[in-house]
Amino acid sequence: MSANQDSGTHLEDAQVLRPHAREFERAFAGGARARLFFSPGRINLMGAHLDYNGGPVMPTAVDRGTFLAVRPRSDRRVVFAATMADARPLEVDLDALPRERTGQWSDYPLGVLVEACALARVRGCASDVQGLDILFGGNLPVGAGLSSSASICVGTAFAVDALWGLGLERLEIVDIALRAERNFVGVQCGIMDPFAVGLARAGSLLWLDCKDQTSAYLPLDTANLSIGVADTLVRRELAQGAFNERVAQCREAFEMLARHQPGAECLRDIRYDTLTAHQHELSDECARRAHHVIPEVARTFAAKAALERGDVVGFGAEMFRTHASLREFFEVSVPELDTLVQGAEQSEGCLGARLTGAGFGGCVVLLVRKGSEASVAARLAADFSLRFGYAPKIDYFGGDSGPREVRI
Ligand code: GLA
Repeated sequence: MSANQDSGTHLEDAQVLRPHAREFERAFAGGARARLFFSPGRINLMGAHLDYNGGPVMPTAVDRGTFLAVRPRSDRRVVFAATMADARPLEVDLDALPRERTGQWSDYPLGVLVEACALARVRGCASDVQGLDILFGGNLPVGAGLSSSASICVGTAFAVDALWGLGLERLEIVDIALRAERNFVGVQCGIMDPFAVGLARAGSLLWLDCKDQTSAYLPLDTANLSIGVADTLVRRELAQGAFNERVAQCREAFEMLARHQPGAECLRDIRYDTLTAHQHELSDECARRAHHVIPEVARTFAAKAALERGDVVGFGAEMFRTHASLREFFEVSVPELDTLVQGAEQSEGCLGARLTGAGFGGCVVLLVRKGSEASVAARLAADFSLRFGYAPKIDYFGGDSGPREVRI
């Protein structure tokens, strides 16, 4: 998909979404045409596992994501269907929304609907809003660390706002998506993913300070750099539990270290000398987690400074350091990810690489000089296949500017 503005018509967008419109007609036969929406996925280049520690992060959106086809109904029922083979459709009544998650994929858009209805009630228009038929699809790998869940939630909030005419600000859409995941789906996720999807601008990295939620854009030299995503195809069932465990360990480390540093509000605020002076009071695991988080804050600021002075080699070096720290101290890597990053370090033209998302499988994000894309991919695929007996899926993605309606 092309770089884009916030809304409008783009030839590539229309090409990508047209088959989805046909899918909608098959799934919901008869009636008016659906409106179409696209919502991207995200990668994070620096600031690994910092969002829930109040640190800075540097994500950007990619031009793969969620497709939504949405049509109003004359009653007050909402039907969620999806093109994914194993996704069961769900039908709910706006006047009797479920309070509990069902454990299905539809919990994500349902959570958004619950939050959007709550907001509509506050605005006094809840009884006016119509039912909807929604078909979801997309071209973003699920469970790969590219935030398919935030892509669905932000996209649903954006589409529901458009259909119901709620007039939401972009940050309100982001907030609905975040609340849906936290309150309804029950994932204690940080703020990075919905912010990255909702506020993305093609050609820029988002600089988001997760402590005060301020943000800025840092230009990425896309004329000379390509962003690659190498998917190990490893998916860990237990990743959610391991993620929650990391959140809890970071919390524990903060609570102990904060006793020695009055005024610290989150682990991001703890100084490295506070950590080294008191690490013996922490469990070994909590000490290792803090030994990732506290230096990662410094690395992320260093990466920002490198980018601002045009030093892409320096920026890439921080990405490699981040990966080593995720492997050694945060223990969220797996051999498949390490093999890809090792191959990247040895590839001419690859400036940086690290696992993206939570870890435990999924993808490595690559920062590659223009012109070296094919040779880097070939080198990584060869090393990986030799060791694991199958090929990783390596793609170069374009940037993206967040959720939008697409007219075909
Ligand atoms: C997952 C979470 C994010 C963030 C990353 C790690 O993707 O959804 O909020 O914590 O892990 O940086």
